[in-house]
Amino acid sequence: MNSIATSTPGTSLDAPLLLKEGTRLLEPDVYRTHLDGRPAVVKDYSRYRHTLLAPLARLLVRREARNLRRLRGWAHAPMLLGIIGGLTLAMEFVPGQPLGAENPIDGETFRRLRGAVAHLHANGITHNDLHPANVMVDGERVVLLDFASALHLPRWMRNAPVVRELRRGDLANAFKIEQRLTGREPGGYVSSVLADPRWVTAVRDGWKRIYGRFKSAFGG
Ligand SMILES: Nc1ncnc2c1ncn2[C@@H]1O[C@H](COP(=O)(O)OP(=O)(O)OP(=O)(O)O)[C@@H](O)[C@H]1O
Ligand SMILES: [Mg+2]
Repeated sequence: MNSIATSTPGTSLDAPLLLKEGTRLLEPDVYRTHLDGRPAVVKDYSRYRHTLLAPLARLLVRREARNLRRLRGWAHAPMLLGIIGGLTLAMEFVPGQPLGAENPIDGETFRRLRGAVAHLHANGITHNDLHPANVMVDGERVVLLDFASALHLPRWMRNAPVVRELRRGDLANAFKIEQRLTGREPGGYVSSVLADPRWVTAVRDGWKRIYGRFKSAFGG
């Protein structure tokens, strides 16, 4: 964290608390802290400074910041506070618990989650990494976190099969979360719409193989 505190003169960060340690390749250390007196969360990639992966880490920070900037003012995403020293993203601290940490979960929470996903999609954004740890629940507020993998598509691309597939994937993940946490199966029609088409499974398996080789090449 020293790198953050010293990289931007005038920015005061204090008492950082590690929320999640980045252990995998290009995963940030995530801290809860205070930024200029406000509770904040920072995603810190500064361990990549002076490494070959620094440009990629900067790109991830800028992409997530751009996504959060687009969602500014929306109650279901954390507010962007800024980028510190190129390798650290700062955002509003969202109080509450990750989805599933508290039981039982009100059915209304899942409806809000699907509503938030539908709103994102209506605005041309896909999240692409929906799972319980990326959803915070604070009473009636459901907040989606982790927009590092999100994509904003220009209007002319929004009906492309691959983009429709990304939207279907987000909704399928929302239903899978509900199923996992409540044990309730979605109805037959929803299940058939949400089942992965065969070409998607093939592309995903191919990507996993490429990513696995990339990771072992860089020792991540
Ligand atoms: N704005 C926030 N407010 C409260 N807690 C947060 C916030 N952002 C992240 N967290 C907590 O930190 C955890 C990790 O954050 P996040 O999911 O953004 O990182 P990650 O999964 O390691 O990142 P990436 O997918 O970009 O590699 C979250 O699961 C959540 O518990
Ligand atoms: Mg995450």
